[in-house]
Amino acid sequence: MTTRVPTTRRYLMCPPRFFAVDYAINPWMDPTQPVSAERAMTQWRELRDTYRRLGHTVEEIEPQPGLPDMVFAANSGTVIDGRVLGARFRAPQRAAEAEHFRRWFTEHGYRDVVMPTCVNEAEGDFAWTGRMLLAGTGFRTDPAAHAEAQEVLGVPVLSLRLTDPRYYHLDTALFVLSEATDTTPAHIAYYPEAFSAGSRRVLARLFPDAVLATAADAECFGLNGVSDGRNVVLPLEATDLAERLVVRGYEPVLVDISELRKAGGGPKCCTLEIRK
Ligand code: ARG
Repeated sequence: MTTRVPTTRRYLMCPPRFFAVDYAINPWMDPTQPVSAERAMTQWRELRDTYRRLGHTVEEIEPQPGLPDMVFAANSGTVIDGRVLGARFRAPQRAAEAEHFRRWFTEHGYRDVVMPTCVNEAEGDFAWTGRMLLAGTGFRTDPAAHAEAQEVLGVPVLSLRLTDPRYYHLDTALFVLSEATDTTPAHIAYYPEAFSAGSRRVLARLFPDAVLATAADAECFGLNGVSDGRNVVLPLEATDLAERLVVRGYEPVLVDISELRKAGGGPKCCTLEIRK
C-alpha cells in the first residue's frame, strides 16, 4: 500500500459568530428550520482544533454581523504561490464578504491581491492539484472567471461543468487527496454524477486512479473533505468514502459538521488554504 506523506498547511478560517440561515441560495438552506449558532461554533472550533492537532497553522479572520455565510472562508480567495485572487459572489447577500477578505490579505502582507471582474467563488469552485487548477462552473462561478484565474494566477485552468443543484460548488463534488509531485500524479476523489457527461470523461481521462464516491458520501458533504496528503478531514457520515480512503493509504479524520451543513457547507467550505 502506498505510504501517504502529509505536508504542513496554512489555513484561514472565520468563526461562525453570526451564523444563521436567513436566506436560501442553495437547496440545503431552509430558513424555516431552526439553526444554532452556538452548535455551529462548537463544531467549527472542533474543526479548527483538529487542523492544529494535525500540525497545521490556522489564521482567523474577524466575522462580521449581517454576513451569516462568512464562516465559509473557502469562497473568498484563491492563493497560489503567494498570489491572491479574491472573490466576487453571485448572491447579493454574500457580496460584502469579498472586501473583508481582501483587506485581511493586504493587511497580512500580500502585495499581489487582485479582485475579479467575473463572478468567482474562489476555492468553492477551484481545486489546486499542484499542477493545475480544476475549475467548476454551472451554478456559481462564471466560466469567464476560469480564464481570468489562469491569467491572474499564471496556472493552467481546466473547466468542469456541474449539473446537480445540490452540488453547486466544485468543492461539494470533488477534492484533491494528494497534490502532484515531480514523480507522482495528483490523486483526487469525486462524485461522477455531479458532473456533465463531457466533464466526467475529462476526469476519467486525467485521473484514472481517482477514488469515486457514492451518492451517500456526496449527500453528507463527504466530497467537501480537506486532505494534507495523508490525513483526510471528513464529515463523520462519509463512511463509504472513509473505507475507500483507508484502502488507499489515507487516514480519515471524522468531524461533526451537521449544523454547518444546514447552510450547505462542510469542512472544506470553512477552510481557505493559503499557499505561501
Ligand atoms: N450558504 C453558502 C452559499 O450557498 C454555503 C457555501 C458553502 N461553501 C462551499 N465552499 N461550498 O454560498
